[in-house]
Amino acid sequence: MLNEQLRQTIEQMPKAELHIHIEGSLEPELIFALAQRNGVTLAYPSVEALRQAYAFTDLQSFLDIYYAGASVLLHEQDFYDMTAAYLKRAAADNVRHAEIFFDPQTHTARGVPFETVINGIWRACQEGPISASLIMCFLRHLSEEEALATLDEALPYRDKFIGVGLDSSEVGHPPEKFARVFERARQLGLRLVAHAGEEGSPAYIESALDVLNVERIDHGVRCLESPELVERLVRERMALTVCPLSNIKLRVFDVMGSHNLRTLLDKGLAATVNSDDPAYFGGYMNANFVAAFEALPLDASHARQLARNSFEAAFLGPEQKRAFLAEVDTFFGAH
Ligand code: ADE
Ligand code: ZN
Repeated sequence: MLNEQLRQTIEQMPKAELHIHIEGSLEPELIFALAQRNGVTLAYPSVEALRQAYAFTDLQSFLDIYYAGASVLLHEQDFYDMTAAYLKRAAADNVRHAEIFFDPQTHTARGVPFETVINGIWRACQEGPISASLIMCFLRHLSEEEALATLDEALPYRDKFIGVGLDSSEVGHPPEKFARVFERARQLGLRLVAHAGEEGSPAYIESALDVLNVERIDHGVRCLESPELVERLVRERMALTVCPLSNIKLRVFDVMGSHNLRTLLDKGLAATVNSDDPAYFGGYMNANFVAAFEALPLDASHARQLARNSFEAAFLGPEQKRAFLAEVDTFFGAH
């Protein structure tokens, strides 16, 4: 059980969030408000009915509802409102810095211009209350040609995002499919990440590293199935952006008590805790920390390690990183 002191520590400690899909922060209440504002008809009669549909059996069953929820986003103000709500919520959990995924293809496929998407999200990020940067994700169930076209479309807004990622249905869409678009992004000086080893095997993590040259692995929890891969990830200090509540809701693990977060840390892996799609999976950053610390043998030393890992793995300059890490050390010095 989580004692009150440890709960306060994990809730109050400064932290970075490195794995949050902004469309996954769209709460049912905001979905309904935007549907009304934009004259969009939803397949669910009420907020409660929509929330009740959030019973997933795997990644795909979630993605179907997640893309339907995003259909209410039409105007720049909608993207702004969604992002502003997330940043405010993250700040309340003592998130100091967030690196936010967005899925432009989910919107451009519906006729929403790329600039509407990025301008709304970016404008909210400029206004705080926390530090934030953007990572543009390609949908891996679509073709590499479509990803390349999306990267081209994004070029006029190159200064508004720091990197690219790869998300959506993992199995059947291996990293190799996106080799050329990631090489192009690398040449443009973009930072590279990819979802790998969520539902996919350790081979997906290996090819994300070898073929895509990613600098962080999103999820990566299945790495433990390959001792050689674990050794490599430790040696390369490769961060894993782990999302505990997501893993339970999408049945990657049966219950939180069987999640491998503690084992990942014990093996010396640079694991971090993140919320993934907090509106769909039962909570934001602190809910993820609390759920993991309640169910697993994790103490204040693990909390400190996770907070440090989050800033060490962030795409921040050395000065900013040092300042955030000093804030973590000061916090734990006093606790
Ligand atoms: N898109 C939003 N959340 C995702 C996840 N957990 N895995 C893959 N694609 C996603
Ligand atoms: Zn994700």
